[in-house]
Amino acid sequence: MAPPAPRDMGDSKYLDVNAVGKAFKGTSVMSGMDFRVGRGELVSLLGPSGCGKTTLLRIIAGLTTADSGEVLLDGRAITSAPAHKRNISVVFQSYALFPHLTVAENVAFGLRARGHAKTDCGPKVAEALALVRMSDFAERKVAALSGGQQQRVAVARALIVDPVLLLLDEPFSALDRKLRETMQVELKTLLRDRNMTAIFVTHDQDEAMGVSDRIAVMNAGQIEQFATPSELYARPASAFVMDFVGLSTRLNGEVIESTENRSTIRSAYGTVHAPGTFVPGTKVTIGVRPELVKTRAAENTLRVTLADAMVLGSKTQLHGRAEAGDRLLCEVPGMNSDYAPGDTVTFGWDVADSLVYETGT
Ligand SMILES: Nc1ncnc2c1ncn2[C@@H]1O[C@H](COP(=O)(O)OP(=O)(O)O)[C@@H](O)[C@H]1O
Ligand SMILES: [Mg+2]
Repeated sequence: MAPPAPRDMGDSKYLDVNAVGKAFKGTSVMSGMDFRVGRGELVSLLGPSGCGKTTLLRIIAGLTTADSGEVLLDGRAITSAPAHKRNISVVFQSYALFPHLTVAENVAFGLRARGHAKTDCGPKVAEALALVRMSDFAERKVAALSGGQQQRVAVARALIVDPVLLLLDEPFSALDRKLRETMQVELKTLLRDRNMTAIFVTHDQDEAMGVSDRIAVMNAGQIEQFATPSELYARPASAFVMDFVGLSTRLNGEVIESTENRSTIRSAYGTVHAPGTFVPGTKVTIGVRPELVKTRAAENTLRVTLADAMVLGSKTQLHGRAEAGDRLLCEVPGMNSDYAPGDTVTFGWDVADSLVYETGT
């Protein structure tokens, strides 16, 4: 395999998806989709099922034709290039391996599909298998491998052709949780070491946060926010992003008073304050990340009746009784057995820690 190209996080136009639209049988899946990825970046497309993640991935790979817009890779238009001319590798959710072939044969298939003679495949296959730590399994039939091993084979087959871009569609979804976490770290390290540019499709926020430099949060064919994991968590651009990435207290309310950059909001649990100026009467959703909510009075203070107290090991979650559509959540560090359902507890947080989104008037 070629030595890795230098990583260029500044050049965020290595992949340039420009105003792409796609409809199936007259139903639009996406329109005006813009999506740019830098060389060497690991990016995730995160969103609920049906939001268009796979469709976008397939358009980039050349497996689905866009109705409008263009796709550029390293400055070259590839919009109408056939999939096999793009040198983009795809790892599918199902891995799409041949169960009756050996590991080595499956990996060699990646090369042979691109016209390499069988005889030159040996050293490259050995190298690709070493990369994913599967050298000892070269002659094993794929059907006799565990899920994690099959995933490694699929990755080796994708990388053996030195792709200019690697696309992975829900690559960990067939693995159990423990293995999934191990494979995420392993794959991220491998791709980093090779300065591979890769796009992961996932509906799992922990996975997206764990493997990516940046995450594009998708909703109904639109990217709602494209940012680093910490930006998404700390400053979600919409209530959808706040709900999709991480947990939060969430209160629906109405602005009753607004001065310069501070609003007073009536909620079902009392009055709270949030940053920002709104016309009185505006309906808003207030969010607070659970580790920013303390069990003592602060600028915003609510008295909450606990519905549950969950000791989760590294943290304890206190869930307050809330109206439909609202959530009251506080996390205290470590294992804390001071709380029980039915207890009345103070939840407090600072105004500056409140996220606020307009939901209507
Ligand atoms: N080949 C197809 N024919 C018709 N509808 C499709 C096809 N592929 C995807 N869709 C529709 O497009 C929407 C987006 O699908 P998809 O990109 O697979 O979403 P995701 O991967 O985010 O779950 C869905 O409503 C899906 O039913
Ligand atoms: Mg999908």
